[in-house]
Amino acid sequence: VTRQFIRSLSSSAAIKHVTIIGGGLMGAGIAQVAASTGHSVVLVDTSEDILKKSAKGIESSLKRVAKKKFAEKPEDGEAFIQKVLKNISTSTDAASVVQGTDLVVDAIVENLKVKQDLFGALDKAAPEHTIFASNTSSLSIADIASSTARLDRFGGLHFFNPVPMMKLVEVIKAPGTSQQTFDALLEFSKALGKHPVSCKDTPGFIVNRLLVPYMLEAVRLHERGHGSKEDIDVAMKLGAGYPMGPFELLDYVGLDTSKFIIDGWHEKDPDNPLFAPSPLLNKLVAEGKLGKKTGEGFYKHK
Ligand code: NAI
Repeated sequence: VTRQFIRSLSSSAAIKHVTIIGGGLMGAGIAQVAASTGHSVVLVDTSEDILKKSAKGIESSLKRVAKKKFAEKPEDGEAFIQKVLKNISTSTDAASVVQGTDLVVDAIVENLKVKQDLFGALDKAAPEHTIFASNTSSLSIADIASSTARLDRFGGLHFFNPVPMMKLVEVIKAPGTSQQTFDALLEFSKALGKHPVSCKDTPGFIVNRLLVPYMLEAVRLHERGHGSKEDIDVAMKLGAGYPMGPFELLDYVGLDTSKFIIDGWHEKDPDNPLFAPSPLLNKLVAEGKLGKKTGEGFYKHK
């Protein structure tokens, strides 16, 4: 019991300083939430310009949070924003900033080779105790970790968009991940005010493994002529209580992102009919109709 107690103390004391690599949609959100909960954060990206944009995005998101949280006392809101921003610094040189870090979270492009190169390089620069985690949506944690010599201190931390709003974090235990690392990642997720769930290192973990085939099934149902997009969306909202229908969700997630995920799984498991590519989805992507971000996907957007 004593040893367990000491270990729990040391693991919960462990993650105070966090390095987030990638200041895009997800990385900026993770940095914001970590800084808001008292962690010291370094946000890394490839250029100062991108980092300036990330910082601006974080500031305006914090303003929205403060407006709600401190509606009665705007001056407390301003103090909150300043305190959180003080917890964040930025850098374009990951290797030099990981030297004092307890946890590195990758939120860079969804590309195995690029993630392996990143962690391979950081493995040499980071201290022994530093835990590495990836926010990948569709890649295998073990594949990413294989470029390092710290398989026991490597796991998955899968956040959801928008990070400040979404309560869930999937914490992934790869075959090599030690129990201590896994526990530290669970504790860290709770310290962020999130609700962690435990996942194995399997394609899509829990949420995307169920959600992506479901969305593809909706496309196939429509392709067979068994329902209009509009009717399928209404049916799933009113009949299953989903906040968005599958076609609305595909447009929100991005058709290219959805195609990338399903293609990756199909390549690994070609006999699984749930991972089969969809001609309609492929056609829309080829036409550059990627969803909300391009103004058109399954629907037209203003
Ligand atoms: P994003 O494109 O908005 O941001 C990626 C950022 O990483 C960019 O700012 C880019 O300049 C930077 N970057 C790329 N290579 C880098 C490198 N070698 N070093 C430092 N910075 C680098 O992408 P997003 O959407 O934030 O996704 C990031 C990761 O999070 C991906 O692995 C994705 O699968 C995952 N994810 C995405 C979700 C989403 O809803 N968009 C949800 C959950 C996970």
